[in-house]
Amino acid sequence: MDSSHVTFLHSGGLKTDPLFKGAKGNEYNLNDTKPFFEVADSEGGLFVGARRNAEDGAYYWRITPWVMPNFTMVPPRGDHPVHGHFWVPIDDENCWAYSFDYHPVRALTAAERQAMIDGHGVHSKNIPGTYRPEANMDNDYLIDREAQKRGETYSGVAGIAMQDASLQESMGPVVDRSRERLVPADSGIIKARQKLRRAVLALRDHGTVPPGVDPAHHRVRSAAVVLPRAESFLDACREDVKVTPGVRQSTV
Ligand SMILES: [Fe+2]
Repeated sequence: MDSSHVTFLHSGGLKTDPLFKGAKGNEYNLNDTKPFFEVADSEGGLFVGARRNAEDGAYYWRITPWVMPNFTMVPPRGDHPVHGHFWVPIDDENCWAYSFDYHPVRALTAAERQAMIDGHGVHSKNIPGTYRPEANMDNDYLIDREAQKRGETYSGVAGIAMQDASLQESMGPVVDRSRERLVPADSGIIKARQKLRRAVLALRDHGTVPPGVDPAHHRVRSAAVVLPRAESFLDACREDVKVTPGVRQSTV
């Protein structure tokens, strides 16, 4: 939900990952380290818009849908498959993260499927026969300080999936939120928490069905677009964030 981490944590992957590299949008990502966030309500959750400077008079927008309670979809890059995550609770302290890739108008190629199995894109390379990543907390995520010194990775952890997972898991199972300092880049997080809390209270007190249960709320897409500076991202992208069969994703 906070696109700003990509410019730092995934800077290596934007240049080298076979499921990320080569997109024009990556240049905007790498060149503007301070995205501005604008968050809009959707029927089932939120659209989190992250705006970066593009060419004169234009902004590069990455639009991330969040569908309540636990689904996020990453904005696309070039003609690469689009991906997203389902965060599925196991108990009060753990969840599985299921990650998917698809392309709206074509089958995935054999090379793309192999890249996912090998731990590229948003996928982890797993211990055969399990859902457990080969790089995990018990082996310090196979951190490689030499690769980090050479500038190949930002944190020393290889692969976009494990770069994210290492930060998420190393915070510990439950974080004391009273100690955190939220900043404008956390607008998506703040609004998501508010919506979750409202939905939980409405369900408890009035039996209101929470947003995101209606299958129609899932018919949303992520998008990456370049817009004139004066345009509102949601006004300009109403069609781009809808699912239209046979129409390719809006991507830069
Ligand atoms: Fe990430």
